[in-house]
Amino acid sequence: MMRDNDVKKRIQQLREDINRHNQSYYQYDAPQIPDADYDALMRELQALEAENPSLISEDSPTQRVGSAPLDSFQQVQHDVPMLSLDNAFDDDEFEAFDKRVRDRVALANKVEYLVEPKLDGLAISLLYTDGIFVRAATRGDGKTGENVTENVKTISAIPLRLKGDNLPKTIEVRGEVFMPLSGFERLNRDAVRLSEKPFANPRNAAAGSLRQLDSKVTAKRPLAFYAYGIGVLEAFQMPKTQHDLFELLAGWGIPICDQVSVATGVEACHQAYQRLAEKRAMLPYEIDGVVYKVNDLALQQSIGFVSRAPRWAIARKFPAQERMTEVMGIDVQVGRTGAITPVARLVPVFVGGVTVTNVTLHNEGELRRKDVRVGDTVIVRRAGDVIPEIVSVVLEKRKSNAPIFDMPTECPVCGSAIERIEGEAVARCPAGLFCQAQVKESIKHFASRKAMDVDGLGDKIVEQLVAEGLVKTPADLYGLKQQQLCALDRMAEKSASNLIAALEKSKTTTLAKFLYALGIREVGEVTANSLANHFGQLEALQQATTESLEKVPDVGPIVAQHVVSFFELAHNREVVSSLQNLGVHWPDVSCVSESDQALAGKVFVLTGTLSVMGRIEAKEALQSLGAKVTGSVSKKTDYVVAGEEAGSKLKKAESLGVTVLSEEDFIELIGEQQGALQSV
Ligand code: IVH
Repeated sequence: MMRDNDVKKRIQQLREDINRHNQSYYQYDAPQIPDADYDALMRELQALEAENPSLISEDSPTQRVGSAPLDSFQQVQHDVPMLSLDNAFDDDEFEAFDKRVRDRVALANKVEYLVEPKLDGLAISLLYTDGIFVRAATRGDGKTGENVTENVKTISAIPLRLKGDNLPKTIEVRGEVFMPLSGFERLNRDAVRLSEKPFANPRNAAAGSLRQLDSKVTAKRPLAFYAYGIGVLEAFQMPKTQHDLFELLAGWGIPICDQVSVATGVEACHQAYQRLAEKRAMLPYEIDGVVYKVNDLALQQSIGFVSRAPRWAIARKFPAQERMTEVMGIDVQVGRTGAITPVARLVPVFVGGVTVTNVTLHNEGELRRKDVRVGDTVIVRRAGDVIPEIVSVVLEKRKSNAPIFDMPTECPVCGSAIERIEGEAVARCPAGLFCQAQVKESIKHFASRKAMDVDGLGDKIVEQLVAEGLVKTPADLYGLKQQQLCALDRMAEKSASNLIAALEKSKTTTLAKFLYALGIREVGEVTANSLANHFGQLEALQQATTESLEKVPDVGPIVAQHVVSFFELAHNREVVSSLQNLGVHWPDVSCVSESDQALAGKVFVLTGTLSVMGRIEAKEALQSLGAKVTGSVSKKTDYVVAGEEAGSKLKKAESLGVTVLSEEDFIELIGEQQGALQSV
């Protein structure tokens, strides 16, 4: 039996050792002991603490296992706003930035920058008081974030107590939480094994993990952290440079990325960028560019900020990534409207931050133009959020006997003869809802988030429901019984009752969403919204002629004809009235005339990441105020809402002189307009 004093000492020693090993592992990527030995230290500490509960302290490494789930995250106000970064897309744009910096501080000489990798994760603020970790918050909109302390506590890379004696009273460390590639790959392999949906990329995996209400889930996720700056700092003398700051933080045990370098003048900056671009593929985590920061902290201060971003820093993104892979096969898919799309199945390849396994070839014309054949080696590109594409075939690698791919003449699902209409790029299966593929896709569309928003009705379930003959039209969804659902593959009783509840909930909708859900050709969200606003009631729309339809903003002769043809079909009218009889309903909007709506006729484009509302919510809010939301910026655009990391659309807006709103401005505007409407 150890004496009390010895126990205390041993616990102390174990904690120090474990913290030191965490640091070697996470900060220096240089583990000092095998994993099994580390686990043994941890177990010993756990055992001693279990026997001596009075000696457990908040900052013990055993306290990283997560705690009771929360109902929601509390809000945290950032006393010093968490800013974003402007982007430079080429050498010239970086040089223009450098010139602005020099002009602003009247510097004739070269500026010294710290060049850091732009880590692809999510920004986090860590508050330490007297060296003890007390709170973590997400960036949110920069002013208000979410309190994710319990989750962050589970990340071993983040010290719960800073090392050393000369510590500030309060320091807010800022940096990026990310998921190293090895951990990401392991997590996704496990997800596939458990038939769960894998994460699209390490950034989503990190964000998803950090926004868990149950910190025990976060504790199992392989997250890491690098600091890149500070927010609040009390009772401490600031160091001279960004680089010194990093050394100071590292000395306190805070992980700093070891790929930072100092570069003086633009030439050295370009070289540092090239060096990192070349190293990128070898790094154990994802980076999507570099960040240049004026190294001198006093200079940073005098250069200052614009509303969203510092003037002393800029991000230079890497260009789209391209990778080579092989075409294993070419499938032909049948879409909701019968469109026949050739899709290349690839040997999975990690490019631009996601694993790509399928790439659309759009239509026969595109397939011919690129002349993609089974067995070909191809170059796949993915830029930002854009869908991946095949850039070209590597002809030198083509086998001499590779046959040209022929598009089928019959629908691969129902066997109907495929139609090709003169002047249309797309070939179609004309069988409509007699073709199971089209039924499946229509049901998926009907239930999708922007349509009826039936939570939990995933693709796999829809496929089974249609294949089993349980669902032939959307109306059949609302007649499904618990037992029928339970009989499906991988459907537990709980998920079946959740699904029934979600179906019930979806019955309360809006006319615009309902119209969109019907899947009328060419009637996307925007058109559905215009139709709902114009006609107010479904009956009026059902009886509309092509002439009256063409009076609706956005509706031309083709769309008008599709709407009329849709409601002419008895089958469609029956489905619509069954849905209404089964309880699908929406509030009557016929009393709001278009001109009453606060943003009637205004054209908005949303770009970048909107962190507070999210795109879909923002769009719905705008549409409910009568505004139109489109995808590309033109002279007709009234406003561009630029979220974080807005790119080319923001540039275009600036060059066309279109009003640009930050996310904050936008939220304010929406709030005012909604308020104005309510007070009418
Ligand atoms: S500095 C005041 N440094 O990029 C400057 N940000 O696009 C604020 N990021 O929200 C950020 N690596 O989440 C900085 N080395 C780095 C970074 C970095 C990644 C992220 C960060 C920020 C976003 C802005």
